[in-house]
Amino acid sequence: MEAILPGAPWLIAHRSMLGINKPYKVTLNEQDYVLWQNQQGEVFALDNICPHMQAPLSDGWICQNKDAIACPFHALEFDGQGRLHNCGKVSSQPLLNPLEIVIKDDCIWTYGGYDPKIPIPDLISKVSAGMSFLGVAGEKSIRGTFLDNISINYDYNHQSGTHRELFGIKANRIPVFEYDGYWAKVVQELDRNDTTWNDILRNPLILTAPKTYTSTLEYAFPALTTFRATFPIGEVLQVHALYPETPTQTKTFVLVYIQPKHPIFKPLLGKFVLSAVTTVIEQDTNAIETSYPRQPAKIRLPNEEIMFHAQKLYHEW
Ligand code: FES
Ligand SMILES: [Fe+2]
Repeated sequence: MEAILPGAPWLIAHRSMLGINKPYKVTLNEQDYVLWQNQQGEVFALDNICPHMQAPLSDGWICQNKDAIACPFHALEFDGQGRLHNCGKVSSQPLLNPLEIVIKDDCIWTYGGYDPKIPIPDLISKVSAGMSFLGVAGEKSIRGTFLDNISINYDYNHQSGTHRELFGIKANRIPVFEYDGYWAKVVQELDRNDTTWNDILRNPLILTAPKTYTSTLEYAFPALTTFRATFPIGEVLQVHALYPETPTQTKTFVLVYIQPKHPIFKPLLGKFVLSAVTTVIEQDTNAIETSYPRQPAKIRLPNEEIMFHAQKLYHEW
């Protein structure tokens, strides 16, 4: 199978997702890798297939003193360069290929072994300036193509169906849509429905939400969609990462950054955002996983050119 968007930089994890000295498995374009991070914050990445009898190294364990991973089958140990450690000896040649990674702002990027076609975007440091990292939410492997998954991030009409319960959107305007190469920016204004007692009971914070709010989305195609919005108690930034695991399976996770208006709002804002993100991802997943295979659309909605723009970048890669 051909790789999806070969030469694209993919954000495969945030440091906080790796833990310390724990194997973390990544599937990218049908190749499996194992990553781990030591106490000093060094990150290692290797092919996941043991060169002895092909056990998955990610099911093994880390030998801290050697910065090596032990295979779960016969306990052979391989260091971060892929060299075999056996009875106190280290093989001169690597027996496993390391995966080349780049760490930027605690984010782990890779080209998955392809020659870079475009640079690693600096969007995260730009949009998160002045905010603090809260955590990762919505980590999920979704049954759906990369194209279907990325399309929903550029689809400005699905709030009224997919997310109707969460946001109760009445009207939706897009006063800004700009793009330049693989970067794009959209400003969205949303009007909410009147709040019902049920809404308040379900989410008391809704009382603090304005009737109309504005959010700014910036994209670094194909890996990132960022979403920044200001609420009365503070500002919230979501960085949605997406990468193709296989032709029919797509991985997502969301880095969340906040800037509370006052430190006392931090726990409330944090809890609200993490749970909202988890719900949003669940709802998007359901829309993607339950839809039938795409056909040419017989109906057009407003602002769909933003989604067509992303689909064009994909097809003309
Ligand atoms: S399969 Fe890995 S050590 Fe044997
Ligand atoms: Fe969505």
